[in-house]
Amino acid sequence: MLVAGARPNFMKIAPLYWELSKPGSRLVPVILHTGQHYDDNMSDEFFRDLSLPSPDFHLGIGSGTHSQQTARIMEAFDRVLNESRPDAVIVVGDVNSTLACALVTAKVNFTPDAYSRPLIVHVEAGLRSFDGSMPEEINRRVTDQLSDLLFVSEPSGIENLRREGFSHVIEGVDLRQGQILPDHPSPSSLPLVALVGNVMIDCLVRMMPVVKKKNPFTRLGFSRDPDRPLVLVTIHRPSNVDHAENLAQMMETLFALAREAQVIFPVHPRTRKRLDSINRLDRPGLHLVEPLGYLDFLALQTRASLVITDSGGIQEETTALGVPCLTIRENTERPITIFEGTNRLVRNDRVAILESVRDVLSIGECRGKCPKLWDGRAAERIVGVIERVLLHAH
Ligand code: UD1
Repeated sequence: MLVAGARPNFMKIAPLYWELSKPGSRLVPVILHTGQHYDDNMSDEFFRDLSLPSPDFHLGIGSGTHSQQTARIMEAFDRVLNESRPDAVIVVGDVNSTLACALVTAKVNFTPDAYSRPLIVHVEAGLRSFDGSMPEEINRRVTDQLSDLLFVSEPSGIENLRREGFSHVIEGVDLRQGQILPDHPSPSSLPLVALVGNVMIDCLVRMMPVVKKKNPFTRLGFSRDPDRPLVLVTIHRPSNVDHAENLAQMMETLFALAREAQVIFPVHPRTRKRLDSINRLDRPGLHLVEPLGYLDFLALQTRASLVITDSGGIQEETTALGVPCLTIRENTERPITIFEGTNRLVRNDRVAILESVRDVLSIGECRGKCPKLWDGRAAERIVGVIERVLLHAH
């Protein structure tokens, strides 16, 4: 059972769904959508873009405080899990849906006289920002503690999990030798941590031919200004948008930037709500638009001279695409995007951001390489390991 709830989950379950659906696969995928995100452009459009079937189960949870949302997902998921009894529950990333479904699966018991529950699989395990004020950090830590199979996208994740006491570790699942695990895992080798690469990049690699043909400006209804660099912006994290001062600071920066660049800012619903309190947002060169679908957004990323973001996944996509990225945060749980990729951390300060923008744009070319195992085959490695573990268990 593949669990998805919020926008950044859909492109992570897609490669797993495709892999599990291949002819000859010995596992049958079902999709469960918690409904954490529900607007068409935050959810359904992604299913269409990725040619995913409608979810087999939809919990229709919607918005609320973190605790309300998590609790509602847990109650509804408990019912579905007990009725459908999958062999494995795969959760991805770090959103509230990830934590809620992992926790329910850890506590379910299908047979009264023996402990029997689905295997808990966490894809994108081990990432740590070491910032306990981020809801995602709490979700990641707890989910990892509950999981049986922990699939990691970059070496920092392996180090973090080792430090937290995980001892069964595969440093890199090797497909070439067809040798997925050193030997058949017994239940005692769980929890098992494995470096497999990045499913989000699998999705990007697979969709790139379609993305290259796509003109995102058709949908946007305005054209590319060929005389100015294109800067793509996404900002939605509570730390940047929930405090009026921080959001105002960000908007001032974008107003200044729009004098030199064509700035496109697809506005997340959380940010949109907060922006209502700012009076005049229209400036020449600054385009505030509705959230975009997966393909349109990727098409814009490939054309951008620079991306400014506070998202997790976009730090990785820009690194894979070789597009410079400024991340408006104090920390990142994805350090490889800085050490090897194209990412830079900048604090939410107008002068600091504008300086970094000029610096990046004046270099003109991008330094950085695509991390090891971000090769479009992470889902293959993951499904290979899950198959071995499940078939061994039966
Ligand atoms: C969630 C994730 C975050 C991820 C982000 C991507 C958690 C803790 N956070 O944050 O990690 O980066 O998704 O988008 O799970 N809303 C709508 N329509 C929707 C969805 C949300 O209008 O389809 C509005 C609601 O008013 C809601 C607010 O956006 O209260 C925030 O949504 P929520 O799911 O609570 O968290 P995100 O900020 O989207």
